[in-house]
Amino acid sequence: MSDMIRPQPGILDIDLYVGGQSHVEGVAEVVKLSSNENPFGPSTKAVEAFRRTAHTLHRYPNTDHASLRRAIGEVHGLDPDRIICGVGSDELITFLCQAYAGPGDEVLFTEHGFLMYRISALAAGAKPVEVAECDRVADVDALLAGCTDRTRLVFIANPNNPTGTMLGGNEIARLADGLPPQAILVLDGAYAEYVEGFDGGASLVGSRSNVFMTRTFSKIYGLGGLRIGWGYGPRHIIDVLNRVRGPFNLSTTQLEVAEAAVRDQDHVAKCRAENARLRVWLAEALAEHGVSCDTSLANFVLARFHDADEASACDDFLKSQGIIVRRVAGYKLPDCLRITVGDEASCRRVAHCIGQFKGAR
Ligand SMILES: Cc1ncc(COP(=O)(O)O)c(C=O)c1O
Repeated sequence: MSDMIRPQPGILDIDLYVGGQSHVEGVAEVVKLSSNENPFGPSTKAVEAFRRTAHTLHRYPNTDHASLRRAIGEVHGLDPDRIICGVGSDELITFLCQAYAGPGDEVLFTEHGFLMYRISALAAGAKPVEVAECDRVADVDALLAGCTDRTRLVFIANPNNPTGTMLGGNEIARLADGLPPQAILVLDGAYAEYVEGFDGGASLVGSRSNVFMTRTFSKIYGLGGLRIGWGYGPRHIIDVLNRVRGPFNLSTTQLEVAEAAVRDQDHVAKCRAENARLRVWLAEALAEHGVSCDTSLANFVLARFHDADEASACDDFLKSQGIIVRRVAGYKLPDCLRITVGDEASCRRVAHCIGQFKGAR
């Protein structure tokens, strides 16, 4: 009688998340530019911490993450009591939807917003509501117009994935201040460290009771494989999220590696500078080949092709050359390819191959 066994409403509407490809059939050495990973990897101090924890694997981790929260608080000048840590920032997105949105509620995000917002909203039984962007930039007026008395969460990645574009502080503040009283603005800062001098929205969290910020160790910290993220918000939200968080959600290894990583801001600064240099280089090289990109503030560029056929033909050609980039048709950008800013050799190689592809057409 398996037709009697049914998941909760919304679950079967979830399309499985497809991660960045990492292999090409028949190609041994690939250049992977499909998942916005840091080509320079983590800090050596983080790797040393990883090795150290091998000796304590039989012990349960601590449950309050106090030491990691203190380190994050010190580095960013934030109150550790208003920080929560999770299994990637994905887990914080899940907690927010689980805790604040259910059947009958609406979760807003933008047209080309990160796919996990939809998935987490549906998993919580809530209704995902997508709001149009203006030339691949989030539109505050449209977001405010899209709010109803059922809106519980509004997600904005700043900079956004996969567009790389970003809203300024005044626009974000206008959004926070214009939301209905029952709604929380979630500022997803997965790429915030790539923007020189940007606090990811922390100051706005400090001055509002309806703003929450998520951050990750997966991008500039080069720790995507270990799955660590954190959030900063008003005490009332932190208190709620801690009730749905499993006590042992992070392992000792995750906690100690993240702490070593966040304390090594020299590594972060080096990665930020190198990314900025290569991102400009890559965008200019693509422009010379007739492929334009919006100004990206993150560790990838969104390359725009003539149409969807050209984008997919270019993707096939790059794969044949052992280069994997990301198709973003699932983000309603079928004429684009998202290309992670790799190391210098990878940037040169992908630009060269796109030049070959365009030259042959
Ligand atoms: C905008 C955005 N938010 C959140 C995440 C989730 O990152 P993680 O769960 O690895 O912290 C990603 C990862 O690609 C992202 O692009």
